[in-house]
Amino acid sequence: MSTPRGPLAEPLAWNLVSRDYAHEVVPQFEKYALDALRVADLRPDARVLDVAAGPGTLTLLAANHARRVEAIDFAGDMIALLEQRARAAGLGNVKAQVGDGQELPYADGSFDAVFSMFGLIFFPDRARGLSEMKRVLTPGGVAVVSSWRPFSEAPLLEALMGALAEQLPDLPFGKSKAPMGEVGEVLAEMTAAGFRDVRVEPVVHAMEAPDMATFWGSMERTMAPVVLLRQKMGDAWTPVGTRILASLSSRFGAGPQSGLMPALLGIGRA
Ligand SMILES: C[S@@+](CC[C@H](N)C(=O)[O-])C[C@H]1O[C@@H](n2cnc3c(N)ncnc32)[C@H](O)[C@@H]1O
Repeated sequence: MSTPRGPLAEPLAWNLVSRDYAHEVVPQFEKYALDALRVADLRPDARVLDVAAGPGTLTLLAANHARRVEAIDFAGDMIALLEQRARAAGLGNVKAQVGDGQELPYADGSFDAVFSMFGLIFFPDRARGLSEMKRVLTPGGVAVVSSWRPFSEAPLLEALMGALAEQLPDLPFGKSKAPMGEVGEVLAEMTAAGFRDVRVEPVVHAMEAPDMATFWGSMERTMAPVVLLRQKMGDAWTPVGTRILASLSSRFGAGPQSGLMPALLGIGRA
């Protein structure tokens, strides 16, 4: 029920990627946020919480369907971007704050719906994160948690991880298990946290890029572990990146890419 404490359990990596994430990842991840909002079926007067909200991928979409949306993330730069984006969209019902999803600063029973989209999966203590989500929900309120299926189900990402591991054999790329990557794990963890009527809906969307260089360039800017590594390696990263692009192009071609990214939505009631 926990993810080994690695660099993604700290805000630094997420602060580093935040600006490019908001531009390049949000449009892709909004597809999953819309799935989550569909399964949650919010009432117009709903009070919503987005845990590990990033730059507000779900927050901003939810604000069009709910009375009030609160968002929390431990990366200050993500929250600053969320606030900018909410202001630019003219949304007056969004409130964001910096904080840890494992220790939510909200009273019991404050929300009708709580989401954590590809965020809880990074918590060192997921059981604690889930029990906090349940605590702040009103009885009968809905929780939706999203996770990625293992890389073995996403061929382009699996190849990317393989190429990284080949170039940097001493680093743990692609070796860790996908947190909540199996249906049974999502059911078991949400049930153990006290949610009822727990079910899982698999969803899949494609990550589109006009060519492989654009796809890899975006990964170099937005994949948090890669960005950390680039920062650490400095100029030594450039040839590594070039070889990874060559490896991916030789396997999938240099032209347009459409990489499937299968995910799971865990849905439960407080
Ligand atoms: C992959 S991003 C997902 C962001 C957003 N939910 C989305 O769907 O685009 C993961 C987010 O989880 C946040 N995060 C990771 N661990 C956290 C924690 N313990 N408490 C709060 N936020 C956390 C990161 O700062 C990052 O913004």
